[in-house]
Amino acid sequence: MQRRIGVLFVCLGNICRSPLAEGVFSQLVQREGLAERFDIDSAGTSSWHCGEPPDPRTTELARQRGVILEHAARQVERADFERFDYVLAMDASNLGKLQRLAPASDARVALLRSFDPDAGDDLEVPDPYFGGADGFAHVHDLVESACEGLLAHIRDEHDL
Ligand code: 4NP
Repeated sequence: MQRRIGVLFVCLGNICRSPLAEGVFSQLVQREGLAERFDIDSAGTSSWHCGEPPDPRTTELARQRGVILEHAARQVERADFERFDYVLAMDASNLGKLQRLAPASDARVALLRSFDPDAGDDLEVPDPYFGGADGFAHVHDLVESACEGLLAHIRDEHDL
């Protein structure tokens, strides 16, 4: 069997942005009939919420938009850079931590939104944790658009 294409989404707490990206991207891939070709997961650069389910505000917004989130938070580790081909950070702070954790990684370590052709200059998915509900909706919009761009890129790169 062919090796699966590994995609890991990374944020700070692994309870808001990255589990959402994992759910949105998994659904996209499933819709396209490509689920068997991928290994998709998410992780946090911190250990603060390890073992916890996604934040209820994220879960509820995703549910309203037809995405069911099932994930237990975990911290990113060095082995992730071997398991995953793409390690995608939500913001510049997460990206810096990933680069320091595995400076010589073969994985493609980048900002998720760098795959969104419509992203413009600001390539971050902002942290919604301390804000209101509109922040979570904004995050979902950004993540959805970026995940579409990411899948298009991977299809191209891997001839899918
Ligand atoms: P996330 O959001 O990185 O998108 O999961 C956060 C979750 C928790 C905290 C910060 C951001 N926190 O400070 O506990």
